[in-house]
Amino acid sequence: MSHAPIGIFDSGVGGISVLRELRRELPNESFIYYADSGHCPYGGKARAEILERAHAITDFLLGRGAKMIVVACNTATIAAVEALRATYPIPFVGMEPAIKPAVAMTRSGTVGVLATGAALAGEKFLRLLAEHAGPVRVITQPCPGLVEQVEQGALDTERSRMLLRRYVEPLLAERADVIVLGCTHYPFLRGLLSEIAGDGVALVDTGAAVARQARRVLEREGLLSDSAAPGKVEWHTSGEPGPFQALCERLLAA
Ligand code: DGL
Repeated sequence: MSHAPIGIFDSGVGGISVLRELRRELPNESFIYYADSGHCPYGGKARAEILERAHAITDFLLGRGAKMIVVACNTATIAAVEALRATYPIPFVGMEPAIKPAVAMTRSGTVGVLATGAALAGEKFLRLLAEHAGPVRVITQPCPGLVEQVEQGALDTERSRMLLRRYVEPLLAERADVIVLGCTHYPFLRGLLSEIAGDGVALVDTGAAVARQARRVLEREGLLSDSAAPGKVEWHTSGEPGPFQALCERLLAA
């Protein structure tokens, strides 16, 4: 079983920002990446629909022999990870917006969170705020349109810049000095984001922390690969296969 691949999925290519960290942390593990691009974005969808997609993708990944699944999507984690854990016998690692580290970092006392509308409305997110925000003011900002930009590989275009300005400037006006990237697509816009937010604002995401958590879970379950060879990545999509693989390879190297 330890030689089996790790499954990883997202509504599209965003989870590659997590895969990048997983490959760094676990270079000898192999991965099967599933981009649900045919149903992307998840951000405006009802929970029931996201749940149905998460089950269908998990069935697919299990069919390909996955020993563990990383839900590399904040929106799908919030909607589905508990149900997945209750249904399947393998371990699942999910995403969680980096509220706790952001609260520890802020000096201005205001933190901004960029995420999808569905993620911000989820009960799990509200619980996270109640647990960790304390006296810090947390301003949430849904970002319609951003996921689509990353799906098209538009990491540095005028439209991406215009959308980011629209979403980030209100947070800066409220003196947020830490911005949480609460969607796995957004780390690919880090370059533009830091240009807009400036040096005094920290941008935090959870990719590296999730990769460390994946390692802990593999160790705990005795599933860590003992292979000395570098692992491979297999790509799958429910969307147009055409330019998909080239975009994935480009994002993995970004
Ligand atoms: N990458 C996904 C997330 O982390 C999502 C987005 C979407 O499809 O709207 O939330």
